[in-house]
Amino acid sequence: MKTVLVTGGSGFIGRYVTSELLEHGYAVRVMDALVEQVHGDAPEKQEGVSDVIYADVRDKAAVLRAIDGIDGIIHLAAEVGVGQSMYEIARYVGANDLGTAVLLEAMLGKDIKKIVVASSMSVYGEGLYADNAGRRFDTIRRKPAEMKSKQWEPLSPDGDWLTPLATDEQKPVELASIYALTKYVQERQVLLYGDAYGVDAVALRLFNVFGAGQALSNPYTGVLANFASRLMNGQSPTIFEDGQQKRDFVHVKDVARAFRLALEKPRAAGHVFNIGSGNAYTIAQVAGLLADAMGLPHLQPEILNKARSGDIRHCFADITKARELLGFEPQHRLENSLGPFVDWVTSQVAPDRGPQMQKELLERGLVS
Ligand SMILES: NC(=O)c1ccc[n+]([C@@H]2O[C@H](COP(=O)([O-])OP(=O)(O)OC[C@H]3O[C@@H](n4cnc5c(N)ncnc54)[C@H](O)[C@@H]3O)[C@@H](O)[C@H]2O)c1
Repeated sequence: MKTVLVTGGSGFIGRYVTSELLEHGYAVRVMDALVEQVHGDAPEKQEGVSDVIYADVRDKAAVLRAIDGIDGIIHLAAEVGVGQSMYEIARYVGANDLGTAVLLEAMLGKDIKKIVVASSMSVYGEGLYADNAGRRFDTIRRKPAEMKSKQWEPLSPDGDWLTPLATDEQKPVELASIYALTKYVQERQVLLYGDAYGVDAVALRLFNVFGAGQALSNPYTGVLANFASRLMNGQSPTIFEDGQQKRDFVHVKDVARAFRLALEKPRAAGHVFNIGSGNAYTIAQVAGLLADAMGLPHLQPEILNKARSGDIRHCFADITKARELLGFEPQHRLENSLGPFVDWVTSQVAPDRGPQMQKELLERGLVS
């Protein structure tokens, strides 16, 4: 495999994937629509890549040009944001699912050997849990009445307390937002197409990706970026629920390597893989670590004690399968990587669009 198309290659993860591939001797073409919410109205020029097509993945003629002479595809182009997907539904379904459909249709009859798509941990909904007796619960969903009474921890169907476990790929999906639904549809489209046409297809379910270059201007995605832009504006990060919800933060360089490994390993074909760090952090802990790293320890998080529609309580990755089949091993831990992240953040002008996001969610009854 020599030439790889990276859709969404001008985005946060796309830029790292592109660099990773170039460093490993691939020729790379980028296709990206430079969505304003991510790139602003004066997008930065992308260093190091000369072969770029600025177009929408729903534009079939442009996609046909983009895949000409390509051996493999990494498909990252997507609208990214759980909260916003709950009211800009056509936008999310259009870009993510119709976009993937147009790409796959354009591939028909072409000699493209591999496609790797970015899926998301959001497809799991709630992560995996066990009760005190060690019984596994893999279809937990919080009840609206529990959320209303600010009972944040999910309970078993018998009302027992549960302990969150690392989530593996065996856990059934539970689609709790339009964004999650679109990511699952993308994943299924790609795997089904691969099966039908003998193309090696892989889906990577990314957990919370962080690193320098994250869109600080997009309030709907990237917990760390949102917290950083709040802090830079002298504001405490705001946290839904009580801040004790657990997530898995994986460094974008580890994610970029995972995409290259997925492209290179023949045995990855037909599989979905969790790509996380394998470590769990509470959101309040992450906000505190970041405030400390930015030298602003007095700006401790403001706990909203409110629920946001579509949010889940705990989900962190079991990455055994990626370790075994991809040879994936995370090399960066959150607590050791905040220095470089903060250096980058403080070099940016970060508009604080958090209040705007909260207002939009509130107006639509998506926060309670
Ligand atoms: N960042 C995360 O934590 C995370 C977690 C799970 C999954 N993902 C997935 O990884 C992929 C990349 O995410 P990211 O964080 O780099 O987001 P990003 O918003 O920085 O990058 C997405 C890129 O896709 C482009 N794009 C959007 N719609 C397009 C369209 N219709 N046609 C062409 N280009 C389009 C945007 O302009 C942007 O450059 C996405 O598929 C996302 O769903 C990200």
